[in-house]
Amino acid sequence: MKQDFDVVVVGAGAAGLFCAGVAARRGQRVLVLDHGEEPGQKILISGGGRCNFTNMKVGAENFISANPHFCKSALAGFTPRDFIALVERYGIAYHEKTLGQLFCDGSARQILEMLLDLCAGVELRFGTVVHEISHDGTFVLETSHGPVTARNLVIATGGLSIPKLGATGFAYEVAKKFGHSVVPPRPALVPLTFAPQDVSWMQALAGVSAPVRISAGKRRFEESLLFTHRGLSGPAVLQISSYLAPGAAFEVDFYLGLRAEDALLDAKTRRPKAALKTVLAEHLPARLAAHFAGADDRNMADLPDKFLRSLGGQLNRLVLTPAGNEGFAKAEVTAGGVDTSDLVSKTCESQKLPGLFFIGEAVDVTGWLGGYNFQWAWASGHAAGQAIQAR
Ligand code: FDA
Repeated sequence: MKQDFDVVVVGAGAAGLFCAGVAARRGQRVLVLDHGEEPGQKILISGGGRCNFTNMKVGAENFISANPHFCKSALAGFTPRDFIALVERYGIAYHEKTLGQLFCDGSARQILEMLLDLCAGVELRFGTVVHEISHDGTFVLETSHGPVTARNLVIATGGLSIPKLGATGFAYEVAKKFGHSVVPPRPALVPLTFAPQDVSWMQALAGVSAPVRISAGKRRFEESLLFTHRGLSGPAVLQISSYLAPGAAFEVDFYLGLRAEDALLDAKTRRPKAALKTVLAEHLPARLAAHFAGADDRNMADLPDKFLRSLGGQLNRLVLTPAGNEGFAKAEVTAGGVDTSDLVSKTCESQKLPGLFFIGEAVDVTGWLGGYNFQWAWASGHAAGQAIQAR
C-alpha cells in the first residue's frame, strides 16, 4: 500500500470529498481517510433524502461566525452557479423547492456519486482511525492501517452533530494540537425544548404546522413552525435556534405582520355572529385556532374589545423562552468550531502551520437552513483543493 501523498484529507463527507476531487484534478496525489465504513453519510440523509445541495442566493449574511467576513472569499471563489453547473454536467435533475433552495428531483445519492466520480484517482480508505498526527516538515499520521505521510493535511471531519453517524470532535483536537483556538461548539438548526407548563400545551398541538414570522433581536425568518411532543421544531424554529443564547427568548408572529388586533376588531364589526375560533381559523390551522380561542364559544359581538386586543397582541407577539434544545443528537449542524482568526480566508490554510487546512463544518462558519451548509462545504473544499501545493 502506498503510504506517501501530496495531501491526506481526513473526513469523507461533503467538504473532504469535494476538496480531494479538486486537488486530484490538479495532479496532486490524494488520500482520503475516514473512520466510517462509507463516505458521505450526511449527504445521503440530507434534505429528506433529496439533498438541498445549494441555494440560489448565498452571501455572508447567511452564515454565523465569530468573524462574519471570513467566509466571503471562499464563497466568492466557488459560487452556487459553479456547483449547479457541475450538477447539470452530471445530468442530475433538480428543482427549487422554496426560498432559492435547490434539491435533487431523484435522490441525494446522485450528489454522492458525482463526488465519488470527481474523486477518480483519489485513494479512499474507510474504517481507518487516525491515532496520532505529528509534523516535522511533513505530516505523519499513525493510523489503524499503518503510518502515512503527506506534505499537506486537510481536516474535514465536520462537527459534533449526529454522533450516531460518526461525528467526532477530531477537528477541534487537531486544531488545538497545532496551536489553533476553537470557538465552543454548540448545537444549531436544532429543535427547541420547553419547561413543562409550555410543553403541555405544545404537546396538545403536536403535528400542527403553521407559517410564522419568528424573531430574536434583529434576526427574523418567515418559515413554518411545527409543534412536537417535546416542544417546537420546523424550519422557522431551526433557523432561530442558531441565534439563541441559553435562556434567551424569541417571538412568534402567527399573523406574519398583519395586525391581528385590527383583524379581530374588524371581524367583530363585520361578522358579529361568527365564533372566535372560526375567525381565527381564517389565518391559523384549525387546531391552533381552537387553542387560541380556548373554551370561549361566544360570538365575536360578545367579546370585549379589550379581550380581542390582548389576544391580537399574543397572536402577533407570542414570547417564548426555551428551556434548552434537543442537543447534538438532533442538531442539523454544529455552530462554533475551529476559530477562523488563524486561517487564511482565501484557502482555509493554517497561518500557524502552512500545509494544514480546515474545511467544512469543522470551521466556525455555520449556515442557515436551506442549502447554505453544503455550499460552505463545497466552497471551503474548493478553496483548499485549489491551494494545496506539492511542496
Ligand atoms: P460531514 O459531517 O459531512 O463529514 C465528516 C466526515 O468525517 C464523516 O464522513 C465522518 O465519518 C468523518 N469523521 C468524523 N470524525 C472522524 C475521525 N475522528 N476520523 C476519521 N473520520 C472522521 N445541509 C445543507 O446544506 N442542505 C441539507 O439539505 C442538509 N440536510 C441535513 C440533514 C441532516 C439530518 C443533517 C444532520 C445535516 C444536514 N445538512 C444539510 C448539514 C450538512 O449535512 C453538513 O453541514 C455537511 O455535511 C458538512 O460537511 P462536512 O464534510 O464538513 O462534514
